[in-house]
Amino acid sequence: MPRGLTDIHCHILPYVDDGSDDEDETRDLIAMQSRQGVDRIIITPHLRERMFETSQREVDIEFERLREYVRTIRGPRIYAGRENHCDHLFLHELHSGRAVTLAQSEYILIEFARHGRDRIFRYVNEVLDQGLVPVIAHVERYPAIWAEPELAGELAAKGALLQMNCESVMGLMGRRQQALSMRLLEEDVISFMASDAHHRDYRVPDLGICADRLAGILPQDQFIRIFYRNPDRIFESRRRRRQSYSDKMTDTAKGR
Ligand SMILES: [Fe+2]
Repeated sequence: MPRGLTDIHCHILPYVDDGSDDEDETRDLIAMQSRQGVDRIIITPHLRERMFETSQREVDIEFERLREYVRTIRGPRIYAGRENHCDHLFLHELHSGRAVTLAQSEYILIEFARHGRDRIFRYVNEVLDQGLVPVIAHVERYPAIWAEPELAGELAAKGALLQMNCESVMGLMGRRQQALSMRLLEEDVISFMASDAHHRDYRVPDLGICADRLAGILPQDQFIRIFYRNPDRIFESRRRRRQSYSDKMTDTAKGR
């Protein structure tokens, strides 16, 4: 089983969306991630108009509670993120500078539903205009991509990074989605694999299992890029942003 993995998309914080039901399940989910070689977990509760509107304050409270727990075990490190559904609420958060990125980096996880190609590009451009890098969640799940798989390559060329769910490529979402997932991997347009885990018995943490399977299928350089190098880039961006923030604070304190 591979080690040192990073899961950039999962719903394992309790009480904030349709993911983990309670602290007990959350602890099991963390243990499952850990057993599969996951060292870093970015937790990404849904933000979606009229469906998942849990405030960031409530999410932060649950996150801090979980951080206290993970400090007491020798488990994976956890980081905050959000899965931002592309709607008016997200645009409002984005334009007011409050949209939550992945682990405080410049990478931001965005999700579509039945959006057509024009609306997808509109949101991607909105994100790029804010100086952020759009990471499109489970790209293989959208009707627009089923109708026109070439759209994935166009989005990547535009500057979006594409994330795929492990369950799709492993065939748990049906043969059609698996075939499309393999095609997108063969075209080398996918930047990240993630679990999108919700529960211990349904939509489970499976990043390590998936990495184990794909290690024998993907060319080695592509495997390393998807499972290690690209996630590392998120954390390099996190370090850069936090450094520039602390430099700014120092300058302010010195009255520069
Ligand atoms: Fe998700």
